Amino acid sequence: MPYTYPHKDLLDIERLTVADITAILDRAEHYAAQNRSGQKKSPILDGKTVVNLFYEPSTRTRTSFEIAAKRLGADVVNIPVEHSSVKKGETLLDTALNIAAMQIDALVVRHAETGVPHFIAPQIKASVINAGDGTGEHPTQGLLDAFTIRRHKKTLQGLTIAYSGDLVRSRVAGSFIRLMSKFGNTIRAVAPQDFLTDKFKNLGVDTTTDMQAALDGADVVMTQRIQLERMNEGQFAMSLKEYAERFGLNHDKLKAAKPDVIVMNPGPVIRDVEISSALADDPRYSVIREQVENGVAVRMAVLELLLNR
Ligand code: NCD
Repeated sequence: MPYTYPHKDLLDIERLTVADITAILDRAEHYAAQNRSGQKKSPILDGKTVVNLFYEPSTRTRTSFEIAAKRLGADVVNIPVEHSSVKKGETLLDTALNIAAMQIDALVVRHAETGVPHFIAPQIKASVINAGDGTGEHPTQGLLDAFTIRRHKKTLQGLTIAYSGDLVRSRVAGSFIRLMSKFGNTIRAVAPQDFLTDKFKNLGVDTTTDMQAALDGADVVMTQRIQLERMNEGQFAMSLKEYAERFGLNHDKLKAAKPDVIVMNPGPVIRDVEISSALADDPRYSVIREQVENGVAVRMAVLELLLNR
């Protein structure tokens, strides 16, 4: 039986099954190869309309969705929120309902508040894709991270994975950890105590403030920038220099990991804070640019599965 994606929307990793995830990643393999070929377009979404509604800054994600949709032949509209009626006091729901009234097929939403895409999805006919909701999830990021890992490790199971960053506020962590835990991996989160939480404890995630312990024998290290914009003033007590010394990944700390470890970061990379500049640019370990490349293929797969259900 050919696989059929069972949902209208992509809101989070939580409600995806291993079969859903595997189907998306398998389809993304096809597009990853195609994206490197001379003919990058397959107009299977010809006539469809995809709208990007981003209430928060974005470089990679918004561009990646736009390129993905265009490669599939869809028309793409980007709504610059700062120039829209949102600034005149229109409610979020009214904005979404008005865009939906134009008979669009997909609405890609990023918002600073957790749960916004979940709130919009049942109220419109178009597919809603969560492109990052507050401290919740960022499912296409989780999928592209998994895709990148699977390409390098040839499996998504039985790996030792260290995640360094803000577990409390990061939606990248929210999706990444949920996804990797579904496949059965050892996951260790490492950060200053203030960045750690028990919210992933039921998924078997260990937390530590000790980088060496987290990195010991790791196959994969995911690093992420401090989510300063999600903190109140004065909430981040440590200096960036101290953070970099204790938690910043560099070649020296990485010696504790497996020799064939891969190093990841969802971007934006803050050089010499969560990762040393030299390591971020070291092709022996860093797959950061591949993550970005793979993001287009994964989003093509997601758009196809959602819009051609
Ligand atoms: C992330 C985000 O906005 O959640 N960026 C991204 O989409 N790759 C990560 C971040 O801002 O730290």
